[in-house]
Amino acid sequence: MNDNTLSRVASLPQLAGFQATNNKDNLTINNHGNGHGHGGNIVRSRSSAELVDADEAHSVQPHTGYKKVLVTGGAGFIGSHVVEALLDRGDDVVIIDEMNDYYDVLIKESNIQYLQSLVTSRDRHRLVFYKGDICDEELMIRIFQEEKIEWICHLAARAGVRPSIEDPFVYIHSNIRGTTLLLELASKFKIENFVFASSSR
Ligand SMILES: NC(=O)c1ccc[n+]([C@@H]2O[C@H](COP(=O)([O-])OP(=O)(O)OC[C@H]3O[C@@H](n4cnc5c(N)ncnc54)[C@H](O)[C@@H]3O)[C@@H](O)[C@H]2O)c1
Repeated sequence: MNDNTLSRVASLPQLAGFQATNNKDNLTINNHGNGHGHGGNIVRSRSSAELVDADEAHSVQPHTGYKKVLVTGGAGFIGSHVVEALLDRGDDVVIIDEMNDYYDVLIKESNIQYLQSLVTSRDRHRLVFYKGDICDEELMIRIFQEEKIEWICHLAARAGVRPSIEDPFVYIHSNIRGTTLLLELASKFKIENFVFASSSR
C-alpha cells in the first residue's frame, strides 16, 4: 500500500449523501425510503466517546464532483441503497456482487432490477453490473482496467455470527481474502478514496 492510497476516508453516510443529524444522545440517519425495502430512519443510542468519534468522522465534507465508484456487494441491503444515493447525485457506479444465497437471491435480483430502472436507456453506461466474486483477481483487474474506477465503497461481505462458526471458510474468503485483494488493487490502481463500512470481519 503506498501513500497515494486511502488518502481520504469518508464515512458511509457522507459517501452516500445521507443526511445525519445529532441530538444529545442519538444519531439519526435519514435515508430516502425508495421502494426497494429497508427505507426509513435509523436511530441508535451513543456514548459520549462515540459522539466525539462521529463528530470527527463528519469533519470530512461530502464529495460533490463526478466520479466513478465501484460498489462491492451492490446488490445487497446496504450496497443497493448506497448505489441509489450515488446515482441520485450524479456519480457513475460499477457493481460487483456474487449474488450468493445467504438469503433469498430474488431480493438481490430485484435490487439490481430496481437500480437498473433508475437509469434511462440513454444513460445505461452510468450503471454497470458484474456478477462475480471479489476474490477473482483476473476479473477484478479487468474491471479496474476497463471501468477506470476512481473510488471504492466496499460492502461485499458475509454477515452473521452463527453461520460464521458453522462455516468459517466462506467468511475468510469474502471478508478477509476479498478485502485484502481489494486493498492491494486499490493501491495498484491508485484509487483516490476507499470506504470500508463493513462490520463483518
Ligand atoms: N445490514 C445491517 O444492518 C448492517 C449493519 C452494520 C453493518 N453491516 C455490515 O455491512 C456489510 C453489508 O451488509 P448487508 O446487510 O448489505 O449484507 P448483504 O448480505 O445484504 O450484502 C452483502 C452482499 O455482498 C455480496 N458478497 C458477499 N461475498 C461476496 C464476494 N466474495 N464477492 C462478491 N460479492 C459478495 C453478497 O452477495 C451480498 O449481496 C456487512 O459487512 C455487514 O456486516 C450491516
